[in-house]
Amino acid sequence: MSAPRLHCLMVLSSAVEGVSAQSFIQAYTLASSNFSIQLASPHGKNVEYVQQDDNNRRWFNEFRSKASSNPIAFETVDSARYSALLIPSSPGAVHDLASNTELSQIVNHFIREKKPICAIGSGVAALCCVMSPDGKSWGFKNYSMTGPSVFELARTQEFSSLPVIVEDFIKDHGGQYNNSEMDAVHVIIDRHLITGQNAHSTLMAVQNLTLMCAQNKHAVSGSRDMR
Ligand SMILES: *[C@@H]1O[C@H](CO)[C@@H](O)[C@H](O)[C@H]1NC(C)=O
Ligand SMILES: *[C@@H]1O[C@H](CO)[C@@H](O)[C@H](O)[C@H]1NC(C)=O
Ligand SMILES: *[C@@H]1O[C@H](CO)[C@@H](O)[C@H](O)[C@H]1NC(C)=O
Ligand SMILES: *[C@@H]1O[C@H](CO)[C@@H](O)[C@H](O)[C@H]1NC(C)=O
Repeated sequence: MSAPRLHCLMVLSSAVEGVSAQSFIQAYTLASSNFSIQLASPHGKNVEYVQQDDNNRRWFNEFRSKASSNPIAFETVDSARYSALLIPSSPGAVHDLASNTELSQIVNHFIREKKPICAIGSGVAALCCVMSPDGKSWGFKNYSMTGPSVFELARTQEFSSLPVIVEDFIKDHGGQYNNSEMDAVHVIIDRHLITGQNAHSTLMAVQNLTLMCAQNKHAVSGSRDMR
């Protein structure tokens, strides 16, 4: 059995505030069983995996020894290659992804082609960078979505210095924001966009991404079979 594997682009922050170790491992491990994964970060810079514990430190030591753990630069990403975009929970996203113009171009390709996008927890801040092609509105205007709530963020020390509050940004830019209780597993799906409220929602969000891509794949091969 050698059906070609779908390619998934995993977008990572390279800010010092980093990417959640736990959310990354869950997202990467689950997605690897269904996709071949390419990591990408601003200028291909190194990624800090934060809040590591004794268990996942071993996982990262092994992971870092593989060439595939080195991210490529957004500038070199050929978006057409990828069937899915995945952004794990990343406290750094609000600092280096939320206003990244190269990332905006990549995400706009996914919106135009209606290809699955999955963003989780603090990683949802990365979606803030996306301007519509006419430059007049936010790329996710009118989408229903979730992301870290003001209450969840207010517990963190850096709350007062955050450049963007995701919940407020979504509401202020015409998105439909929805959340559940603090730390609850909560996933919203609207068309090709899957968002998870927090790192706890990683598994459910990525499972939905996998299913959505499997459906798309069948839709494509199904229509080919019709000839
Ligand atoms: C994802 O991969 C797993 C393990 O290879 C497989 O069992 C599962 O059916 C795949 N899921 C989809 C939706 O293709
Ligand atoms: C959003 O919805 C409003 C009202 O239904 C509509 O007028 C507008 O064109 C939509 N904007 C986008 C970007 O889809
Ligand atoms: C989220 O959506 C559910 C179901 O539609 C609704 O009951 C709830 O009030 C919404 N929550 C917020 C914060 O909008
Ligand atoms: C996909 O997300 C929905 C919530 O939007 C959830 O009810 C469902 O269980 C998820 N599917 C999987 C396979 O995790």
